[in-house]
Amino acid sequence: MNAPRRVGVVGAGQMGSGIAQVCAQAGLPVVLRDLDEAALARGLQAIGSSLDRMVAKGRIDGEAREAALSRIVTTLQSAALADCDIVIEAATENEPLKARIFTELAGAVPADTILASNTSSISLTRLAAAVPGPQRMIGMHFMNPVPVMPLVEIIRARQTAQGTYDAVEALTRTLGKTPVEVHNSPGFVSNRVLIPMINEAAFCLHEGVAGAEEIDSVMRLGMNHPMGPLALADLIGIDTVLAIMRVLQEGFADSKYRPCPLLVEMVDAGHLGRKSGRGFYEYPAKT
Ligand SMILES: NC(=O)c1ccc[n+]([C@@H]2O[C@H](COP(=O)([O-])OP(=O)(O)OC[C@H]3O[C@@H](n4cnc5c(N)ncnc54)[C@H](O)[C@@H]3O)[C@@H](O)[C@H]2O)c1
Repeated sequence: MNAPRRVGVVGAGQMGSGIAQVCAQAGLPVVLRDLDEAALARGLQAIGSSLDRMVAKGRIDGEAREAALSRIVTTLQSAALADCDIVIEAATENEPLKARIFTELAGAVPADTILASNTSSISLTRLAAAVPGPQRMIGMHFMNPVPVMPLVEIIRARQTAQGTYDAVEALTRTLGKTPVEVHNSPGFVSNRVLIPMINEAAFCLHEGVAGAEEIDSVMRLGMNHPMGPLALADLIGIDTVLAIMRVLQEGFADSKYRPCPLLVEMVDAGHLGRKSGRGFYEYPAKT
């Protein structure tokens, strides 16, 4: 099965911009879509800065940087994705929103265009059920930061065709990433294991067991985690962490997935982590 070549990406936030970047660096033409020009400009700026860091570290040269940027075009219209072999959706973690995006996409792209979602936890089987041609729907779950992390968790919806799986696995290898196959289930494997750990770390802080730095130190120095769970939550986004806990809680109907009230408070306050300048830690440059 040939890997898809022309890639559409919906959502130019931290994940969508990273996905567009790695596709462009692999030599693939990319159409990047978001809701407004400001979001697209932020996405392109993030890609430019990430490529700059790679040049500074000697991983790529200036020519490769320019070549990657030249492969990305931005748009506000779904119609501009009509020539893509695959569209990877990386919009906000919200099921009705994603269902709307896929319904709109299905009307804008040919019937054999693969529809992939970078969702962290939402049921691919349910998303597939909402689109014509559900056999072309699949989960393509990149890790954050996308240019750095080697894993792509590929999630089969119950309806996913073998050809769809093979094409996405081939694309993953073209991007220099390692595919790991999992079946649809709330949180898949990655976030079923990771997010309850972050939630438990938030409970430790909430109950005054230890401070944020102490909790993170225990996990970094004692468990050899490269980042502590609270610093990682700030990187992921507290809103995304809470959304995933709610998917686990609802999907398994099990109280062990109860979100920590501190996460709810932080989201209500707009303390979303790095992207808002404040989460478990403060990021003064962005305030
Ligand atoms: N943050 C992480 O660490 C991480 C890791 C893996 C997967 N994910 C998943 O990736 C997805 C995106 O997360 P993110 O962290 O990049 O979020 P983000 O908030 O940084 O970006 C979301 C982007 O989607 C755009 N958007 C919203 N509705 C849209 C629409 N209808 N059409 C086009 N664009 C739209 C927003 O304007 C925004 O630019 C989520 O499903 C999330 O669960 C996140």
